[in-house]
Amino acid sequence: MTQYDFSSFDGLDTVDSFEENTFESEHRLMAGAGVAVIDSDQAVRDYLVGLFEGSVDTAESLEDFETQRHGGSCVVVLGPSCARQEDFDTVALWGKRYPNIATVLVTSELTTQLLHRALRVGIKDVISAPIDQQQLIDTVDRIAEDLPSGDSLTSYSSGIDPVDPDGGELGRVISVFSTKGGSGKSVTASNIAVALARRSKKPVVLIDGHLQFGDIAVMLKLHPESTVADAIAQIDALDADMLNNMMAVHEQTGLRVLAAPVEPTFADKISGQQMARLIEIVRTFAGHVIVDLPAIFNDVVLNVLEASDQMLLVAGLDIPNIKNVKIGLATLALLNIPNENIHLVLNRSDSKVKLDLAEVERTLGVVAAAHVPSDIVVPISVNKGSPVVLSAPKSGVARAFEQLASSFIDGDAAAEPSSNGGFRKFFG
Ligand SMILES: Nc1ncnc2c1ncn2[C@@H]1O[C@H](COP(=O)(O)OP(=O)(O)O)[C@@H](O)[C@H]1O
Ligand SMILES: [Mg+2]
Repeated sequence: MTQYDFSSFDGLDTVDSFEENTFESEHRLMAGAGVAVIDSDQAVRDYLVGLFEGSVDTAESLEDFETQRHGGSCVVVLGPSCARQEDFDTVALWGKRYPNIATVLVTSELTTQLLHRALRVGIKDVISAPIDQQQLIDTVDRIAEDLPSGDSLTSYSSGIDPVDPDGGELGRVISVFSTKGGSGKSVTASNIAVALARRSKKPVVLIDGHLQFGDIAVMLKLHPESTVADAIAQIDALDADMLNNMMAVHEQTGLRVLAAPVEPTFADKISGQQMARLIEIVRTFAGHVIVDLPAIFNDVVLNVLEASDQMLLVAGLDIPNIKNVKIGLATLALLNIPNENIHLVLNRSDSKVKLDLAEVERTLGVVAAAHVPSDIVVPISVNKGSPVVLSAPKSGVARAFEQLASSFIDGDAAAEPSSNGGFRKFFG
């Protein structure tokens, strides 16, 4: 077992910080959430607290933390002593009770099984020893950004039965993911979806899986009447026709879009299992299903990734991006997502920060499926609500996305894009 490097702590002689802590002056993140560390071992608590700047709440157990907490948003770092089943059960309960608490697990040994168990109960991320301080802080910051403020109660629906496809050929599910926000996932997802919709004979559906802050509808200038939240609310009764009626249509291409919920808090009511079910229904009638995701490993993302045939992993070309991709690839390997299903999209690949592409590919151990140049046409297209493949079709960015989209159409790579989407043809 890997051991923590405790060389930097002298915690055993100090007073138990839990007793002293008033829960008043905690470490505040940019997003306004506090940080707390829970572990039964004081040495471990002190070590973890020492990795953060400012004051951090501490508790010996999840029960203690729950009793003492003051109700504000908080990212809770669970130490290795909190990986028992009863702790995981408590975390699952917290997920239902406290949408403004998020948990991260620190473990001395990361196994596929532990990662699965943790993500399934709603732990946002698992970090293994030796702990990279910056990685822990980045992770906690990223999770804090997605936390709502204040307490509100949510209810989860019960589990659902696996879908029973009617024997027809199922559509291909392509998820778009990254390990860092702002790397170009939504730009990639909207362009690929539009490019596929113009080429594909069957309907193409784009689902905004960034349930809290999805911006697919804006990027396509759509004003959807229904969202993922409406579809999930009826998930047990949902069929292809109902779902079809709920989706917004991108007039120019026929792309069908299921937009993100309008309220970020709706995301808390949607489970990974429900998202997986939604995808299963969509793929019974769509040729391609593209799912745009947030840059985080959570239950919803895990389930979408598991339901995906292919994954586009989008990364910017700077050192933090590449470092995070490397960590992300290791996590994906633990989740048993085969490397051959992961297609790296290097975005802004000609940016001023000159990194050697070949060197990056060597470092990551994957060959990039697409190199998307950095171009002002992208922010212009985002602001216009018209993807680059439509608004600047001659640009290098559009060509890169068109080429990538072609690779997802079996034996049809040379098909000319049509301006009228395949969807209408399919549904008559
Ligand atoms: N190739 C590019 N060239 C120039 N700007 C880009 C490019 N890709 C993305 N951007 C800019 O970065 C912003 C973030 O992209 P987005 O797709 O929303 O990221 P993510 O979904 O990963 O958070 C976009 O609004 C866009 O203006
Ligand atoms: Mg996005």
